[in-house]
Amino acid sequence: MAMNYISDRLIEEVRVACDIVEIISDHLPLKKSGKNFKGLCPFHSEKTPSFVVSPEKQIFHCFGCGAGGNVYQFLMKSEGISFVDAVSHLAERQGIPIPKKSGDSGENDKRKRLYEINKLAADYFHKRLSESSEGEKARGYLKQRDIDGNTINRFLLGYAPLSWDHLLRYFVKKGVPPALLEKVGLIIAKERRDGYYDRFRDRIIFPIFNTQGMVIGFGGRIIDSSDQKGPKYLNSPETAIYKKGSNLYGLNLAKEIIRKEGFALIVEGYVDLIALSRHGIENVVSVSGTALTGRQVLLLRRYTDKAVIVFDADSAGRSAAEKGYDLLLERGMKVKVIALPGGSDPDSFIRKWGRDDFLKRIQNAVSFIEYMIERIAEEMNLSSLEGQVDGVNRILPFLSRIPNSVERDSYMSTIEEKMGISSNALLMELRKASLRQRKGVDLSYVPEEVKKVVAEQSLIQLMLMDNSNIRRIREYVSKENFEDHDLGQIASVLFDLLDKNEEISPRKVIDLLLETHQKEIVSRLVIDHIEYDNVDRAVDDCIKAVKRRDIRCEINTIKQQRKEAIEMGKLEEYRILQERYIQLRQEMRS
Ligand code: CTP
Ligand code: MN
Repeated sequence: MAMNYISDRLIEEVRVACDIVEIISDHLPLKKSGKNFKGLCPFHSEKTPSFVVSPEKQIFHCFGCGAGGNVYQFLMKSEGISFVDAVSHLAERQGIPIPKKSGDSGENDKRKRLYEINKLAADYFHKRLSESSEGEKARGYLKQRDIDGNTINRFLLGYAPLSWDHLLRYFVKKGVPPALLEKVGLIIAKERRDGYYDRFRDRIIFPIFNTQGMVIGFGGRIIDSSDQKGPKYLNSPETAIYKKGSNLYGLNLAKEIIRKEGFALIVEGYVDLIALSRHGIENVVSVSGTALTGRQVLLLRRYTDKAVIVFDADSAGRSAAEKGYDLLLERGMKVKVIALPGGSDPDSFIRKWGRDDFLKRIQNAVSFIEYMIERIAEEMNLSSLEGQVDGVNRILPFLSRIPNSVERDSYMSTIEEKMGISSNALLMELRKASLRQRKGVDLSYVPEEVKKVVAEQSLIQLMLMDNSNIRRIREYVSKENFEDHDLGQIASVLFDLLDKNEEISPRKVIDLLLETHQKEIVSRLVIDHIEYDNVDRAVDDCIKAVKRRDIRCEINTIKQQRKEAIEMGKLEEYRILQERYIQLRQEMRS
């Protein structure tokens, strides 16, 4: 690969655009294990899996050989490539442009050209819909679906005329070479003869924008009439600028509103999103029929960590919701679900029942677990003990994925109530299976010398767990308080990011650390996650343990100085030292 210039920004952009579970799954089979995924480590030979991937933290670690890191370390190690090549490789996969160092921006110019062509095409389709006489049928169709002029403009909806080469001729007249049009998937090369034909013919056009608002692809819907052929929706193929599953339809318009509202609605269809927008509900994204991907979840999580799934009430919609729930939860999102009445999708629902009714549903949205409990209670025969066992087995996997034990416990009573499972023994089984958890370190039983190391490590772990812990710890602890050099180094990266007010995540910390073994300490501490009973107390205990050693050091020095002061008869100095000594003793005791 050519020498590319890899800026910190690019490293970050690519890192956040990749989903580590997807990337690693291309190399080895992963199996779900609690919050994480497990597999056989590709870096050493083993028979039982000790290779763990965290979808939430986007980090891997092998407890067998100690290898660990973020998506870059994985690629570097498994492909034997350099860091620069790992970044370039993933950038290409994600369709993210890599600037060349020489200032030659050839690649970028080419991409710019593709965006321009797409924008021209979108405008062309839009004009055909709004102005041309051929567009009349399409206009009538949209009107009948309750999509008004404002909405058409907001989403730049269009119409591709019934013709084999309308668009092609329009671009040829503009001097755009067909090869470029083919590159963005707007035209298709004829199979047996020279020449091309338009991909979208006699269809309503939905331009697909990326988060920066550039047109990256199109969806085209047939206009309701029985004589039309082909699939209901036709979409652009994957191109250099359109990567399915890396993008969410509507996010460009919704992102600020999602931030403001504090949550996002996830719907299936283009029209679902457009219908909600038409009714003033704008914090919405659409997965456009494809199954939700990890990349899409990570994209959404840049704007919010709360999502409400509003999928169609059919069985396809239900199973999509179940899979989507997993992906969202794994990546640290809080998920609720709206179950629409049978047969309706968000579009038909809001047109029939109106905005207020829909908003009420959002307000009453239940957590995914409650939704599942209700569904299972509905669908399964829970009157027999056998049925109850089946029911519990269905709900268990969902329950055990909830990271918070208090929250998990609270659902036990819901299960008891909704599923009518009263048998104590059954509940005990459930508890045992779902609440298998490790307790936080109790420092009171740890010997003094070890306490310090344990405390330092726990401090780093607590900081990697939650950014609010960094703020708290930073108040009392500085890099110098760490006796262990590596842990001190990690602390200093964390404190730096906090001081600079930058986004902090373990996977980013890994890129900022210089030494491989320090990166591996981070991945281990992140994945070897301890569930602390009381995080705030753990933070306090560890701060104290770390500080205490330093206080003890000072006490020893002061004792020495105090002795000298007495010997030299320096009474004033002695008094000052004595005061400080008492103060330190008190700190030790607190
Ligand atoms: N889809 C697709 N290709 C298909 C069918 C569907 O890409 N052959 C995608 C589209 O993005 C569509 C979404 O899947 O918006 C949801 O499909 P579906 O529920 O079947 O359609 P609706 O959104 O209800 O579309 P409409 O209301 O226009 O019938
Ligand atoms: Mn629909």
